[in-house]
Amino acid sequence: MSLDSFVAGLPKAELHVHLEGCLEPAMLLRLATENDVDIGMSTEAEVWAAQDYPDPALSHFLDYHYKCLRVMQKPQDFYDLTYAFIEICRDNNVRHVEIMFGPMAHLERGISFAGQFEAMERARVDAGRDFGVSVLWIMCIDREHTIEEALELLELAEPYRDAIVGLGLASYEKDNPPNKFLAAYQLAKERGYRLTAHCDCDQENSTEHIRQCLDELGVERIDHGLHVLDDPTLTEQVLADGIALTMCATWRPRDPEPRRMRPIKQMLDLGINVSLNTDDPSEFASRHMTHMMTEVLDRSTMTTDDMVALMRNAFDAAWISEEQRSVYLSELAAYART
Ligand code: ADE
Ligand code: ZN
Repeated sequence: MSLDSFVAGLPKAELHVHLEGCLEPAMLLRLATENDVDIGMSTEAEVWAAQDYPDPALSHFLDYHYKCLRVMQKPQDFYDLTYAFIEICRDNNVRHVEIMFGPMAHLERGISFAGQFEAMERARVDAGRDFGVSVLWIMCIDREHTIEEALELLELAEPYRDAIVGLGLASYEKDNPPNKFLAAYQLAKERGYRLTAHCDCDQENSTEHIRQCLDELGVERIDHGLHVLDDPTLTEQVLADGIALTMCATWRPRDPEPRRMRPIKQMLDLGINVSLNTDDPSEFASRHMTHMMTEVLDRSTMTTDDMVALMRNAFDAAWISEEQRSVYLSELAAYART
């Protein structure tokens, strides 16, 4: 079997992908026109070129990301984006996906929580059924907002509590440490949400942010979490407590190879529950799961066994029932034997 067909057929799970990062250029341009939003791009070639920004810093990526998501206006837009992404999951043999969504940026533009979420949830049910993909929602606080806004977000989500599995923390990390949201995480835990938070790569005070997530917020997972490796105490703690790290190999067109390959391999070798995810697959040259994993295999020292281990970790860390987990793990093990 070729590496390409091995990766294509591999049963996959994804735990770290942002809904708004799944706006494919064609839909982005359609919605910009339909909703009369100026994004300064009018062809797909211009969209791909705009993703090749010179500075890889998180803030540059996020500036691009927030410029694009303004095209989302009507409930139908939220439906279409969700439905289209779940179809792409099916095409990538993704059996289970936990999609992060960020309501704050849309609330700010006058789109109600119900207007966003009811359409997304309808699409989750419809596409889940049509494409046979298991989908859960993780609601993210955008960390440049205030704690009061985060608490208000939890109230807005309360009528839909049963449809949202977890709470996350995303967006501009500089000067927005995790403990700014301690009260929101405490409340979310009381309400039964599973907890995760971004500790992005190459941020100021990175290890301190990870420590806060573990010791104060009480998260079960860290999104990225690269800098766990910088501090032996954190590495030990992540291992001892079974904290999952949802790493991403995302790269821009100009990057010579997938990023973070060596630390991901190191985490695997240490026995950390590390998984491999796309983050914002329509906004990076790394794209969706099959393409990303194929490139990783082609352009790093990682092996097909490593790919199986990364997917096993994702199914292990997924917020699904034990019955569902054992079905997926058996399917993965059977595939790996072939
Ligand atoms: N929001 C969307 N994508 C993100 C990322 N990669 N990091 C932090 N926040 C995000
Ligand atoms: Zn992310």
